[in-house]
Amino acid sequence: MAEASYVERRSQLTTYFDRTAVEAWARLTSDAPVSKIRATVRAGRDAMRANLLSWLPDDLTGKRVLDAGCGTGALSVEAARRGAEVVAIDVSPTLVGLARERSIEILGPDRIDFRVGDMLDPWLGRFDHVVAMDSLIHYSAADITRALAELGLRTDGSLVFTVAPRTALLTLMHAAGRFFPRGDRAPAIVPVTEGGLRRRIGREAALAGFAVGRTQRVNSGFYLSNAIELTRASPPPCGEKPERTR
Ligand SMILES: C[S@@+](CC[C@H](N)C(=O)[O-])C[C@H]1O[C@@H](n2cnc3c(N)ncnc32)[C@H](O)[C@@H]1O
Repeated sequence: MAEASYVERRSQLTTYFDRTAVEAWARLTSDAPVSKIRATVRAGRDAMRANLLSWLPDDLTGKRVLDAGCGTGALSVEAARRGAEVVAIDVSPTLVGLARERSIEILGPDRIDFRVGDMLDPWLGRFDHVVAMDSLIHYSAADITRALAELGLRTDGSLVFTVAPRTALLTLMHAAGRFFPRGDRAPAIVPVTEGGLRRRIGREAALAGFAVGRTQRVNSGFYLSNAIELTRASPPPCGEKPERTR
């Protein structure tokens, strides 16, 4: 069962991404003009998405991929283009609606299985790859580790995700962020150190079958994010592998 801190943060994020920031987020993830600062964020996010996708097999035909916290769905569309059976889930019904509309424009109908809800929902079934781009950055290191552990129980290949690195620069950017209009501010990002997170992952029994693979930092103006890959080094223990739901 999810910890209270996870549930509380998820609820704040639902309000933020479904109401407060929905228009700003829709714009940031489109081709519409944005401020210079946001253009650096957009460029950084494009680079990060490309990096995460490059860690998945080129041919994803027949592979089940979970886009955990899919937002407006750009990563889902790219994975589906490469043949994946994508389940895209987000707590924001508005963003999922927008993601569905955008994906239909690009790929046609019914290519992606969009869901509204929690990425940790066990009913989503098993996956070959789980990608969580910038969707865990608002959770504490303890909650990130527990979320990875739950996702890991249902993942046969790799878990790729991003965290906000704890650096002096990020602290400075947070200070600068206070000058943004209040309504546009996100719930605080929780910076984590890679070493600290690696130690937590190492102590988490449910992640014992995984090893840390590639890592990549993307730094573009006001965007700073650290990608980490966990690859399954040993098969899940007997009894841990329920039937696939699809
Ligand atoms: C910064 S946005 C990133 C969206 C998308 N991954 C991208 O990179 O464009 C974070 C997203 O994660 C979603 N999110 C946060 N916690 C979640 C959870 N527990 N389950 C599902 N979605 C979640 C938010 O609603 C938001 O859309």
